[in-house]
Formats: sequence, C-alpha cells, structure tokens
Amino acid sequence: MLLFLSLALVLWAPQVLSVITDLDGLAHRSFDFVVIGGGAGGSAIANRLTEDPDVHVLLIEAGGSNEGVLDSAIPGLMSFLTPSPWDWNFTSTPQSALNNRTLAVARGFILGGSTGINQMVYTRGTSEDWDSWAAITDDEGWSWNNVQKYIRRNERFTAPADHHNTTGQFDPSVHSFDGVVSVSLQGFSNGIDNRTIQTLSELSEEFPFNLDMNSGFQLGIGWVQATIGDGTRSSAGASYLGPQFISRPNLHVLLNTRVLRMLETERLSFRSVEFTQDAGNTKHTVSASKEVILSAGSIMTPHILMHSGIGDSEVLSSFGIETIHHLPSVGKNLSEQPIVRNEWLVNSTDTFETIARNATLLADVISEWENIKMGPLVDPPLSFIGWLRLPDNASIFQQVPDPAAGPNTSHYELILINGILSPTPPATGNFLAFSTSVASPTSRGSITLNTSNPLDYPLINPNLFSTDFDRFTVREAFRATKRFLAAQSWDGYILAPPTNATTDEELDEYVRENAATENHPAGTAAMSSKNAAYGVVDPDLLVKGLRGLRIVDASIFPRLPAAHTQVPVYIVAERAADLIKSAWKIN
Ligand SMILES: Cc1cc2nc3c(=O)[nH]c(=O)nc-3n(C[C@H](O)[C@H](O)[C@H](O)COP(=O)(O)OP(=O)(O)OC[C@H]3O[C@@H](n4cnc5c(N)ncnc54)[C@H](O)[C@@H]3O)c2cc1C
Ligand SMILES: *[C@@H]1O[C@H](CO)[C@@H](O)[C@H](O)[C@H]1NC(C)=O
Ligand SMILES: *[C@@H]1O[C@H](CO)[C@@H](O)[C@H](O)[C@H]1NC(C)=O
Ligand SMILES: *[C@@H]1O[C@H](CO)[C@@H](O)[C@H](O)[C@H]1NC(C)=O
Ligand SMILES: *[C@@H]1O[C@H](CO)[C@@H](O)[C@H](O)[C@H]1NC(C)=O
Ligand SMILES: *[C@@H]1O[C@H](CO)[C@@H](O)[C@H](O)[C@H]1NC(C)=O
Ligand SMILES: *[C@@H]1O[C@H](CO)[C@@H](O)[C@H](O)[C@H]1NC(C)=O
Ligand SMILES: *[C@@H]1O[C@H](CO)[C@@H](O)[C@H](O)[C@H]1NC(C)=O
Ligand SMILES: *[C@@H]1O[C@H](CO)[C@@H](O)[C@H](O)[C@H]1NC(C)=O
Ligand SMILES: *[C@@H]1O[C@H](CO)[C@@H](O)[C@H](O)[C@H]1NC(C)=O
Ligand SMILES: *[C@@H]1O[C@H](CO)[C@@H](O)[C@H](O)[C@H]1NC(C)=O
Ligand SMILES: *[C@@H]1O[C@H](CO)[C@@H](O)[C@H](O)[C@H]1NC(C)=O
Repeated sequence: MLLFLSLALVLWAPQVLSVITDLDGLAHRSFDFVVIGGGAGGSAIANRLTEDPDVHVLLIEAGGSNEGVLDSAIPGLMSFLTPSPWDWNFTSTPQSALNNRTLAVARGFILGGSTGINQMVYTRGTSEDWDSWAAITDDEGWSWNNVQKYIRRNERFTAPADHHNTTGQFDPSVHSFDGVVSVSLQGFSNGIDNRTIQTLSELSEEFPFNLDMNSGFQLGIGWVQATIGDGTRSSAGASYLGPQFISRPNLHVLLNTRVLRMLETERLSFRSVEFTQDAGNTKHTVSASKEVILSAGSIMTPHILMHSGIGDSEVLSSFGIETIHHLPSVGKNLSEQPIVRNEWLVNSTDTFETIARNATLLADVISEWENIKMGPLVDPPLSFIGWLRLPDNASIFQQVPDPAAGPNTSHYELILINGILSPTPPATGNFLAFSTSVASPTSRGSITLNTSNPLDYPLINPNLFSTDFDRFTVREAFRATKRFLAAQSWDGYILAPPTNATTDEELDEYVRENAATENHPAGTAAMSSKNAAYGVVDPDLLVKGLRGLRIVDASIFPRLPAAHTQVPVYIVAERAADLIKSAWKIN
C-alpha cells in the first residue's frame, strides 16, 4: 500500500506553474488582492478574480498541493484523511455536556482546504435558510431567489461513475450542468439501497421520498448528491484551482506558507499580510493594493483576526496583543452540527469494513479505481440522506421556540452509511452506520486564543449539546432511526442495535459518550446588517469599521443552514466575487 502510494505520487508530479518558490522580491511585487487560505472560499475567490488578466492575485495556503494526493482524489478513501498529513488535526476543549470528552476537529491542510478531505455531500440548504440570511442581514442579495445564479455558477452536474440511469433520482430542472465543481449521484450501488427504497414506500408517511433535497424544499429522504465527477473528488483545489486556472499568469500561489497576522497599513486599513515558511524563524510581508481576503475558515479566520489586533479588547489584552479594532463578536457564536454515528451490527459482508480490513482487497479496489474509475471507491459509501422535523406538538416547543429557519426546514438529519467509515474498523462484524445529526442546533460555542503565538492552535469550544433543544432533538432522531429500521425490508438484516438505551436519561448518556462534531463549524466572524450592534462583517463581507479587509468563508454565516456547509461557502464566495468586482470595477 505504501509503496503503491509513493509510486503514484511520482507519476502525478505536480505541474503547478504559478506556485511561487522564490520569496526574493515578493515584498516589492504588487498584487491587487492577497487571499489568505486556499479552501472552499479562497479557491473560488482566487479563480473568479483572476478571470480578468489584469488583476493579480496572491493566494497563500498553509498546506501543500492537492496534485497527486491519491487519498484525497479517491472518494472512498475519505476516512483515511482524518487524521492525516492533510488535516490540521485540531482538538476541541473538554466538552462539558459530553462527560468532558475532547473531540477531533478536522480541517483540510491542503490546497482546496476542507473540501480536500470532506465527505463530499452536496447540499444547499433550504429556501427558508437563505431567506433567513436575507432577513438577518437586511440584504435581499442573500435570498434564495437571488443566490440561484451563484448556485449555478458553482455546480456542474455530471453522470455518475457507473453511468446508470438516474431518472427518478434527482430533479434536473434545479441543477446546473456548466459550473465549476462536479456533482454527481452515487456511482456504485450500496447493498442497503434497495432496503432503503422499500422503507420509503412502506413508511412513506413518516419518511417520504424527496426527489431532490436541493430544490429549496428538503424534507424527506432522498438520493445523495456529492461533489464528485468521473468517480473522483471535485475539491475546490481540483476544480476552481484545476490546471487550466492555476496556470493563469496573474494567479500566484504560495503553498506550505502560514499566515501569522494582518498588519495595519494606514489607520484602520489592513492591506498587509505577515507570513512564514519556517515556523516563524523568518517572517515576510506582502501587500495588496486593493484588498486582503481572509478565507482561513471558521477556526483560523477568528484566530488570525485576533492576532492582528481585531477582536474583543479584553481577550486581546489578556494575551498582550494590542487592540487595533475592538470587535467583540470575533470568535463568538461558533455553531456546529453535532452528530452521533449509530453503528448497527448487520447480517452482511457487503459493507465498508470488509474492504478496510483486507489489504489485498483494498489494493484491488484502488487498482480498479485507477484503471477504470469504477468500483466501490468512486463514492463514500452513503447513498441516502434524510432531513426531518420534530412533530409540531413535540414537548420541547413548550419550552423553546422552533429554531429552524421555517416550517419546511429540518430539525435533524439522518445519514445511512454502508459501514463504519474508518481505516481501522472493529476486528469483527459488519455495520450500518445510521448517523443522527441536529440540523438546526441552538448550542453556541467559541474560538479563543490559547497563547500569544500565532503558530499555536486556538482553543476550540463547539459546546455541543449544551441546550435542551439539541439533546431532545438527537434523542428523537435516534428513536426515528429505530422506527425506520423496524420496516419489513430490514428483517433478517439488523442483528443488534448500537445501544439498548431507551429512556431519555439512558439516551442522553449514550449521546454524551458517542457524540462528535459533523465538521461544519460556522459563524465565528458573523455577517450582520449594517446597523446591527453585533457581528464582524457587513452584508458585503467587509469587516465592520475597517477598510481593505473582507472575509469569505464559513465564518461569516449569520446562522447555520440545515445543510452540510461546503455549498453554502461556495455560494458566499461566488457572490463575494461579484461584490468585489463591482466595488473595484473589474470585469
Ligand atoms: C472531515 C470533514 C467532512 C466534511 N463533510 C462535508 C460534506 O460532506 N459536505 C459538505 O458540504 N461539507 C463538509 N464538510 C465541511 C466543508 O468542507 C467546509 O464547510 C468548507 O470546506 C469550509 O470552507 P472554508 O473556505 O470556510 O474553509 P476551508 O475549506 O477549511 O479552507 C480554509 C483554508 O485556509 C487555510 N488556512 C487556515 N489558516 C491558515 C493560515 N494561518 N495560513 C495559511 N492558510 C491557512 C487552510 O489550510 C485551508 O486550506 C466537511 C469538513 C470536514 C473537515
Ligand atoms: C496531522 O496528523 C498526522 C498524523 O496522523 C501528521 O502526519 C500531520 O502532519 C498532522 N498535520 C499537521 C498539520 O500537523
Ligand atoms: C468536567 O470538568 C469540570 C471542570 O474541570 C468539572 O467541574 C466537572 O465535574 C467535570 N464533569 C464530569 C462529568 O466529569
Ligand atoms: C431511464 O429510465 C426512464 C424511466 O425510468 C426511461 O423513461 C428513460 O428512457 C431511461 N433513459 C435511458 C437513457 O435509458
Ligand atoms: C435492487 O433492485 C434493483 C431493481 O429492482 C435490482 O436490479 C438490483 O439487483 C437490486 N440490488 C440488490 C443488491 O438486491
Ligand atoms: C450571537 O448571535 C446572536 C444572534 O443570533 C446575537 O444576538 C448576539 O449578539 C451574538 N453574540 C455575539 C457576541 O456576537
Ligand atoms: C481479502 O480479499 C481477497 C481479494 O478479494 C480475498 O481473496 C481474500 O479471501 C480476502 N481475505 C479475507 C481474510 O477475507
Ligand atoms: C402529538 O400528536 C400526535 C397525533 O397528532 C399524538 O399521537 C401524539 O401523542 C402527540 N404528542 C404529544 C407529545 O402530545
Ligand atoms: C412547504 O413546502 C410545501 C411543498 O413545497 C409547500 O406547499 C408549502 O407551501 C410550504 N410551506 C410553507 C409555510 O412555506
Ligand atoms: C494550550 O496551551 C497549553 C500551554 O502551552 C498547552 O499545554 C495546551 O496543550 C494548549 N491547548 C491547545 C488546545 O492547544
Ligand atoms: C442472515 O441472512 C440470511 C440470508 O441472507 C438468513 O438466512 C439468516 O437467517 C440471517 N441471519 C440472521 C441471524 O438473521
Ligand atoms: C444489549 O443487551 C443485550 C442483552 O442483554 C446485550 O447482549 C448487548 O450487549 C447489549 N448491547 C449493548 C450495545 O449494550
């Protein structure tokens, strides 16, 4: 396996023309824009701004190139990426509502950012989610109808790897076929698919089939769409910074380069960026004539802001950092979708564990992928996702208001996965991982500094399950999975449950021991309306009270949509590109 991987690396030698390797003179070069972070947001922005050949953009990324990283390219190997050399490997603070356990917080350390290591699920959120953004920010530009053109610029819907007939599995009228990021339905059928389909007809009242969860109306269970094309991960690195784009002479890329902070160039104008390539021994600066775009993601964007003197002055002064701009919302309101991966023992050998446990079989299916882009590794092994609501008369609503964006937006998500996604599953047994997640969580956490050294990691507290609503919802979600698997179609398939817990107290304890983050952190540099008394950026994504600094990543979400977060980031970036081009009269 190792030998195989290193051979593959040699064969796919990087051919990135605009990667800068010589820093001499960089400080004297003039860039219109400097983009910090080459993830979902940063890659899309760098692509769109360099459509005009006269606009020079420098993109700075902490990780390395995605070229030739087979583990990232092969969708079925996604569980091999966390942890890995392409993961920052962050860890949360002890979670007080989870028996003080610390949780892994995965983030991509590679060109393409977290889209280079994620699960690739393609979800946009609901029309109500986007309309809520418009209402919060008082900017109709964020409404569902008005972001349609950005959805379309981003998406390139393609045939699945196995070229099966997809009629009845999605609604083509709500998709785009000529955008940048490839999207497809599953390209290898899972052993559990037919049972799932049968359940949707048997229990259609509680679990209706939804032809397309990306139409704006998500409720029900439907086929998963994923950011995959030709059986290959379509990350932001592979798509927005694919060979035809990254070779643009006006796009300059610094890899393996850590941004330390931004520097004030004139009073309240931040157009200079300080970075290092040798763990802080040598520091360099580079400036933008127009704007710095901060796209380091929900964890590192507030970290970089605080190290630049932008944040809560009380926090900054406790670390000896001079406050240049007091902005108390930086790092606050961290929102995350908590997940419990419920592992049901099943009567089958046709699950992911069988591949993960057998090096010979794994090598075989990797060869199959390499030779013909077919087989079980063309997807992560999930083909159905559900978005469901608590009943209107659920007792929790006597206590708290409904936090969903509207009556057609889900409270919880169900994900059917054909096996435990781990390179090292339990030694025996085959499983159905039937995950439950809170889609509209009300817990809020924070990002704060741990030390005054920008190279140290921040303290990440997602504060999962700190509210009654989140605990109530995940209990009900688990009860829903039991009703789902009680359908006739699962007879003889399910051998044992993940837990015998049934009472609220027992389920709460099971959740405390098993909950994890869904890796969808957002909201740590939130957008709010122009006149709001809180928030970090205005509806045009400019940092409030400053000039020359815009934020384009998941940290600006004013609230989490009931969705996986990559597509919402792409939508934000596509709109941001329009806003920036119009502000600077760029084509
Ligand atoms: C394991 C996992 C599974 C996921 N599954 C899904 C899924 O199935 N579907 C979905 O929609 N979403 C999923 N997500 C979430 C999705 O990938 C993210 O929401 C999205 O990538 C966020 O985009 P971003 O631009 O905000 O940040 P990122 O994509 O994380 O990009 C930030 C970039 O900034 C760089 N950076 C940070 N700090 C610095 C610094 N100091 N100097 C230089 N560069 C820096 C990082 O290396 C990174 O490349 C998943 C994420 C993970 C980690
Ligand atoms: C994350 O951990 C892996 C080991 O599992 C390591 O190889 C890698 O360097 C770590 N990532 C970073 C950014 O340090
Ligand atoms: C969690 O840690 C806090 C602070 O150390 C402590 O007060 C609390 O009792 C701990 N909770 C559990 C369940 O161990
Ligand atoms: C796909 O299936 C649908 C009905 O399920 C059928 O009408 C259509 O002709 C099929 N398309 C192809 C290309 O076979
Ligand atoms: C699932 O159903 C389809 C259509 O009814 C059938 O062609 C296929 O063989 C079934 N798959 C399995 C694994 O039973
Ligand atoms: C957190 O968000 C809420 C709105 O959801 C807002 O009222 C509050 O002021 C925010 N807190 C901070 C510190 O920004
Ligand atoms: C591992 O996979 C190979 C190739 O499919 C197969 O021949 C072998 O029997 C498998 N080994 C085990 C222990 O299942
Ligand atoms: C909610 O209403 C349904 C029927 O409409 C009923 O069966 C259920 O008991 C009610 N639940 C509560 C908590 O009142
Ligand atoms: C919810 O969605 C359904 C189906 O699209 C629609 O008929 C209904 O009007 C929607 N309800 C609200 C309150 O928007
Ligand atoms: C925070 O800093 C302390 C002291 O340097 C260190 O022991 C700890 O591991 C750090 N925590 C994190 C999450 O990095
Ligand atoms: C496992 O499935 C087979 C059919 O595939 C069936 O004969 C057997 O009874 C099942 N085992 C259990 C314990 O349900
Ligand atoms: C559930 O109870 C059964 C019977 O007592 C036991 O064999 C099994 O191990 C329990 N399962 C779990 C996950 O605790």
